[in-house]
Order: sequence, then C-alpha cells, then structure tokens
Amino acid sequence: MKVDIHAHFFPDIGRQEAISFGFDQPPWLRIDNKGSGMMMDGDKEYRLVQSALWNSSDRLEEMDRNEIDIQIMSPTPMLFAYASDSEDATRWAARINDFAAESCETNRQRLHSLCQVPLQDVNKACTEVSRSMKAGHVGVHLGTHVTGRNFDDPEMIRFLRYCAEEGVPVLIHPWDMMAAERMSEYMLQWLVGMPAETHLSILSLILSGAFERLPEELKICFAHGGGSFAMHLARVENAWHRHQIVRQDCPKPPSSYVERFSVDSAVFDEKTLCFLLEVMGEERVMMGSDYPFPLGEFHPGEMINKSKVIDEKTRHALLYKNAVDFFGLDHE
Ligand code: CO
Repeated sequence: MKVDIHAHFFPDIGRQEAISFGFDQPPWLRIDNKGSGMMMDGDKEYRLVQSALWNSSDRLEEMDRNEIDIQIMSPTPMLFAYASDSEDATRWAARINDFAAESCETNRQRLHSLCQVPLQDVNKACTEVSRSMKAGHVGVHLGTHVTGRNFDDPEMIRFLRYCAEEGVPVLIHPWDMMAAERMSEYMLQWLVGMPAETHLSILSLILSGAFERLPEELKICFAHGGGSFAMHLARVENAWHRHQIVRQDCPKPPSSYVERFSVDSAVFDEKTLCFLLEVMGEERVMMGSDYPFPLGEFHPGEMINKSKVIDEKTRHALLYKNAVDFFGLDHE
C-alpha cells in the first residue's frame, strides 16, 4: 500500500468566477481543451497542466498508473489568498474546500483532502477548518508565512493550538518566497527560496520556543523534506550552544524538537533520504511526491519502493503507516 501525502489540486474556477470573489489579479484555471489547461496568475500564464489536477476520475486513473493507493491532495499554494481581504478569502477558501470534498467523494477510500483557511484572520480560519473537517477533510494545508509573519507570531500559534485541540493535522508548504526579486531566473524560487522558506518556518517554531507553548498532540508536517532544515540542524545546534541570543527563547537544544514534527520524503535522492531518516527518525518521514507539478517525483514513491538501503519495516512506515497514523486514516 502506498499513500502520497503531498499532491496538489486546483479547482476548475474560471476567470469570471475568480474575479467575483473580489480579488484584483486572482489565480484561475483556463481549460484549453479536453485533457489540458493553463493555471493562470491574473492575466499571466503560469503553468501548463493536465486534467488530473482538477478532475478526480482522471486523477484516480493516474494514481492507478503510478500504483498509488491513497492520495492526500492539498490546494495549490498560489490559491492561499492570505494577502486578500479576509471576508473574500473566507468565501474563496470555502469554494476551494467544497470542491475538494466533492472530488474526494469520487472514491472516499482513495482520495482525501486538506483544506485551506484564511489565515490572515485566525477566528475565521478556525471556523473554516472546523467546517471543512466536518465535511470530510483530513487536515489543513498552510503556507510557510502569512504576509511576512512567521509561525512564531502569536496568532499563528493560536491557530496551531486550535488545530492540536481539535485534532486537525497540519501540512506546511512553502509559498510566496523570500527575496523573490533576486530569484527571477532558473526556477531559483523553487530551488533556493522554497527550501529556505521551509527551514525558516521550522526554526521560527523551534527557536521562539513555540513548541514549548503548543500541545504535544499537535500533528505538523513540513513539505519537501523540511527544506534546508536537516542539512543545517547541526549549524543551528552549534549556534544554540554558543550564543545566548539563539537560545534565549528556546530552552532545549534545537535537535530535541525534531520529535515534534514530521516531513515528507520529496528529496529526490536515496542518500539524502537516508540522511533525512537519520535526522528525523523513520516514524517522522512520509512519502510525499508533490504530484503533479514539474518538481515532483516523476513516479511517486519509486525512490522508497526501489531502495535497497532501507529495510521493509522502514519502507512500510514511509509509504503507508506513518501517513495513516498522522492523518488518522481508517485503512488497514
Ligand atoms: Co507542493
């Protein structure tokens, strides 16, 4: 059995409908002809996509081809709308979440979804996450920051505490990358910006002492193997030991907090995956492919499936057990 915890969808929202939510240059989907479409960022063409991104029957067929049993799909991050008016963003989130819940009805055993919330207004975000969970979502998908506020922001922590108390698993995904003006070429926003965003998001929780204030029950996972975090944990640890300014809000060594979160396996290399397993522990890594986007694993789960280095118990944990436990899926 294989579960893919990092896969995206984009609802079939056209230009007129997107504009009706009150946004200036909204993301929307231009369906060109049967089987393909263009993700639009306002008037700009953003990415050529195939129908499995919005059509759940086609998605299931691709899952069959890729031998994926269960997929946990999350909204494409460009849909987050955190910079918009919170009333507009709430109606927008509901539209996207209802689309996802309906898509999952096509096969409730194999398709699950994460909702998005208007995180710029935590009260509204709490209401929408609870409404979505009742409608069948299995967790919430959040960006790495909310218009420049990191996860050590008291409002972000309040939302995470609500998720912990309500039993809502959280997946954090990079978006709206820092210093984007310096990364306009060569996909640098994906190659440098995304791993840095995720690293920053994890460190903002660790070094602010947020994990000390959050319930241990919180289930939180970071995309793309946690970005640059694992590779630089030793650097952070060294800084914590040697500089008061690093440890002033963080009472325990940074490495002791790795047991408080999970990461996906989207690191594209077996040696890197083994290192990640060493840092995070095998119970805190879950297969995530970033399907169906161009920097995703081409055959989701293949690296773990074919690895001769990891044993069967670890393979089962990464491909199935950890995800079922994390998202509380009812499959066995
Ligand atoms: Co992704």
